[in-house]
Amino acid sequence: MEKTVNFIIEKIEDFHPEIGIILGSGLGEFADDFESTSISYNEIPGFETSKIQGHKGRLVFAKINGKKVVMMQGRYHFYEGYSMQTVVYPVKVMKRLGVKTLIITNAAGAITKEYAPGTLMFITDHINFMGTNPLIGQNDESLGTRFPDMSKVYSKELIQKAFNIAEKLNINYKKGIYIATTGPSYETPAEIKMFSIMGANAVGMSTVPEAITANYCGIKVIGISCLTNYAAGVTDNPLNHQEVIDTANKVKENFKNLLTELIKEI
Ligand code: HPA
Repeated sequence: MEKTVNFIIEKIEDFHPEIGIILGSGLGEFADDFESTSISYNEIPGFETSKIQGHKGRLVFAKINGKKVVMMQGRYHFYEGYSMQTVVYPVKVMKRLGVKTLIITNAAGAITKEYAPGTLMFITDHINFMGTNPLIGQNDESLGTRFPDMSKVYSKELIQKAFNIAEKLNINYKKGIYIATTGPSYETPAEIKMFSIMGANAVGMSTVPEAITANYCGIKVIGISCLTNYAAGVTDNPLNHQEVIDTANKVKENFKNLLTELIKEI
């Protein structure tokens, strides 16, 4: 960790990011809009090489609306075969760099019928259905406690701010519960029915590990899902990754505008 942090600090000098953003599917180019310093994951000691297509796999440091921000352009997914430790390592690094607030974004499938694809959902709580936990293993007491409380992971105050911005910008939004599976296969209709009974409104394959870790080390979290499709069985249509990409692309401009405004208010 010390090696990782020292390497990054040498590159960014006295730029101390206060806000972290994890850019999900289709949102990666948000980082390109700002003049910045970027560091490829491949260069950073302690980071694994990122393999996913369409993502750049780098940390981007930029000043946005007067705030110092570090963005993850591309994230590590558990379904790619990375360990949970690898998936959440960048969040721990952000903590060491001084990040106080983390905006986590993702693409997700809508479980609730009234949550039409193209809507942005602000995450009020989550269900960890990944069958594992990123905090398993020896605990680093300097980051957080062994048994962290999880009753207030997603900041109500930030959700309220996001609501107001979405209203102002005329963006379709909802709030709801996100359930995470490991993927990479999409869910069956029976699984989605179960998730619905459990109270989940959207399903995806990320975000929960990072949110658990951020909460654990005392970082304020807001999670935003771009609902890209109806989850399996909600409609008759089979799912495909292209639909996810296409909807994410359509919503991109709204999402970017919302993020920019939100950063201003953090
Ligand atoms: N299920 C799981 N992950 C997803 C989905 C989905 O329907 N859409 C986008 N990510």
